[in-house]
Amino acid sequence: MTAPTADQSAEQLPRPTRLSDVKGWLFTTDQLLFDWFLAHQRDRSASGDLLELGAYMGKSAIFLGARLGTGERFTVCDLFDSPAGDDSNSQEMKRSYSTLTRRAFEANYLSFHDELPTVLQGLTSIIREHVEDDTVRFAHIDASHLYEHVHADILAVRELLKDDGVVALDDYRAEHCPGVAAATWQAVATEGLRPICISGTKFYGTWGDPGPYRTALLEWIKATGGIWHEVQYINDAPIIRLSAKTAAEPEQPVSRHRAKPAAKRPAATAPKASAARPAPRHPARGLALDLLPPIVTRALVNARRKRKATAGR
Ligand SMILES: C[S@@+](CC[C@H](N)C(=O)[O-])C[C@H]1O[C@@H](n2cnc3c(N)ncnc32)[C@H](O)[C@@H]1O
Repeated sequence: MTAPTADQSAEQLPRPTRLSDVKGWLFTTDQLLFDWFLAHQRDRSASGDLLELGAYMGKSAIFLGARLGTGERFTVCDLFDSPAGDDSNSQEMKRSYSTLTRRAFEANYLSFHDELPTVLQGLTSIIREHVEDDTVRFAHIDASHLYEHVHADILAVRELLKDDGVVALDDYRAEHCPGVAAATWQAVATEGLRPICISGTKFYGTWGDPGPYRTALLEWIKATGGIWHEVQYINDAPIIRLSAKTAAEPEQPVSRHRAKPAAKRPAATAPKASAARPAPRHPARGLALDLLPPIVTRALVNARRKRKATAGR
């Protein structure tokens, strides 16, 4: 592990007001699946630690951190601004993550949480020196997308996961990273990884029994509106394909920088609406939405969208 090397001043550090302000890749279907797996485990008292290999600016880490149970540990591992270990990984870093810094990750994370997770700055190959075997209930592999790294990450995570722990593998089918696809399906074919489900961007599997997860997931999909799914078979084992077509996103972590409503002024001194900046169409409504908990806000926004859609027909 190395110390942070970032040279950003405090003013340059990010102050996201919502998760969507944080650069990264965690789409609605995967947010729903992360949320579902973690809640399903919690409901069955299946406690355990969380792990993320590849945190970038913190988007998925912030989301995971909001689902951490009492007494559970969350570890993230990323190179951040440290040099990679080989030429291909260095090129990958330069091409895709050149603006990344550990301080930006930490500023983003602390915008949503009081405490940082355990942050390991270095190659993911160090992970087993820092996380005990059989302790993790959910691991997200999203670091290097090169075959040899992903293959090693999968083998490490196999040891770190508890019996019924779940691994999510990012970009298992993207055109720009065939090595992730190769490592994923190799693990299925020869290393005991058993698929549960896939989204357009992530593969979810376990080295335990996938049956109870699949059954419960199908029940949840059917009971939840707006999620398309089908079941296909690979080597006689079912795998669920799903996509959140119109489903509402799950509860979002709340930022401490969330836009605050302006303080009320006495009527006599309130400024007139400026011609250059027209007042919002429904100022009171916008204010109310900002003050409500996100789950209520989302329900109101969805209801409003539906009303609009019906009116526009
Ligand atoms: C795709 S990004 C992670 C995105 C993040 N999980 C999200 O959803 O926003 C990949 C990250 O992996 C890190 N990385 C790449 N190669 C690595 C390696 N060999 N060891 C550790 N981290 C690595 C990069 O620094 C980058 O932050």
